[in-house]
Amino acid sequence: MHQFTLPDLDRFEAWRDQARACAKACVPACSVSWRTGTDAPTLFADTVLPSPEKNGKPARAPEGFLDLARLVCAHESGEAFNLLYRLLIRLQGYPRLLSDRSDPDVETARRMEKSVRRDMQKMKAFVRFRELAGDAEFAGRRRFFAWFEPSHNIVQLAGPFFARRFADMDWVIATPRVTAIHENGNLRFDASPANRPHLTDQTEELWKTYFTHIFNPARLKVKAMCAEMPKKYWKNLPEAETIPLLIREAESRSRAMRDNAPGPVPPKAERVKARLHQTLESEPWAGDAAMTSKPSIEELRKDAASCARCQLCEMATQTVFGEGPQDADLMVVGEQPGDREDLAGKPFIGPAGQLFDRIAKSVGLNRSECYVTNAVKHFKFRPAGKRRIHQRPQNHEIDRCRWWLDREIKLVAPSLILAMGATALRALTGDGSGILKRRGGIKKSRYGIPVFVTVHPSFLLRLPSEQDRTVEEARFAADLATALDFVRQDRIIQSE
Ligand code: URA
Repeated sequence: MHQFTLPDLDRFEAWRDQARACAKACVPACSVSWRTGTDAPTLFADTVLPSPEKNGKPARAPEGFLDLARLVCAHESGEAFNLLYRLLIRLQGYPRLLSDRSDPDVETARRMEKSVRRDMQKMKAFVRFRELAGDAEFAGRRRFFAWFEPSHNIVQLAGPFFARRFADMDWVIATPRVTAIHENGNLRFDASPANRPHLTDQTEELWKTYFTHIFNPARLKVKAMCAEMPKKYWKNLPEAETIPLLIREAESRSRAMRDNAPGPVPPKAERVKARLHQTLESEPWAGDAAMTSKPSIEELRKDAASCARCQLCEMATQTVFGEGPQDADLMVVGEQPGDREDLAGKPFIGPAGQLFDRIAKSVGLNRSECYVTNAVKHFKFRPAGKRRIHQRPQNHEIDRCRWWLDREIKLVAPSLILAMGATALRALTGDGSGILKRRGGIKKSRYGIPVFVTVHPSFLLRLPSEQDRTVEEARFAADLATALDFVRQDRIIQSE
């Protein structure tokens, strides 16, 4: 039986050299074991490296094994080293062993690797430096000290991260067994045991203030917080002192936040509400009869600018009305303006619009010859910090906004309407369901004008895989080409 003792420093390198020698000497996995300084030695074990067997071959390991071994060697379990050696020996006959996730050895090694990685992440997140008071030896240079208690032997693995991140500082990160020392840009490690010192500096207060400010009582989830910031790290985190109080006050603070929150309604709301009532009570073109006077698209656009037919106008920057020639043969209808459209006041100029333009061009469809509009004329969104997250319009909003779409269709009187997506389809036909099944088909609109059904270009933008996107872009292009053919044929029939 061979038994080796691994040092706290360069543990992986030591294990690697011993494992190589054992494999070359054909030592079976059951005849070798490793211990670390903290484990009790086995009596009568041979601690000398075995001599190579005459026919013994150097062990070969596939790519990835050494990376795995480097991390697993940092695991505190005494089992890690024997497990790695067993894997090494088994890999000689089964080089693809590591991809067999159901193998118990591989599974255990991966679990250990994950635990070590997690410990490294925690170290990167929870090391807190305190500035040391100047002393003569280091005159002129600021020095910092941190104490950390990792679960595994990770200081050598994580050290280079800190050297890169705090390259221009001199610092020491001490742990109970290994210490990392960074001086004048050089990183070294020391394996003398250390104890937790009692140090404080003014950064303690800064950490507490920072943490108190970023703490959002409305988002408090104690279980998730403790999983992210396990309690065992708290004693070395200055800000952890504030946690119990913050948790205790969370409910009353979030109630206060709710009570004092500014409403989503901008200051113009009162004006808008007044207009809303006015509009509902006296619609300028109530009923179709009013349409006999046939305003121009420009007049319609002007009226829509002050539209307050539903609540969406309260949040949006402006009405985004349709654009394009009033005698267009093809009308393209989307869902609602997006963030970019809302700011610019023009439909389909953001990512979905740009994609539409590109694909339309590829099939010979010139956007400037189409009338392009949306079923809903105001941007509906949910504020999230500085971002505005698109929200689908609801049926009652689509129905209210149809007032404008009806009039656009009557004025433009296209020979075909292209409905892009479920919202457009609902506005045009009364039923927006099953868009993927209905795409490529022609439906009758409420106005008698045929509606060609296709998906919304933002559907293509949301597809996660490149391959799916290519396939769907080709299908969308085919839909646009069919719609274009239809319009051209209709033009020929009309001119005959
Ligand atoms: N999506 C739409 O449906 N319309 C736009 O104008 C922009 C994005």
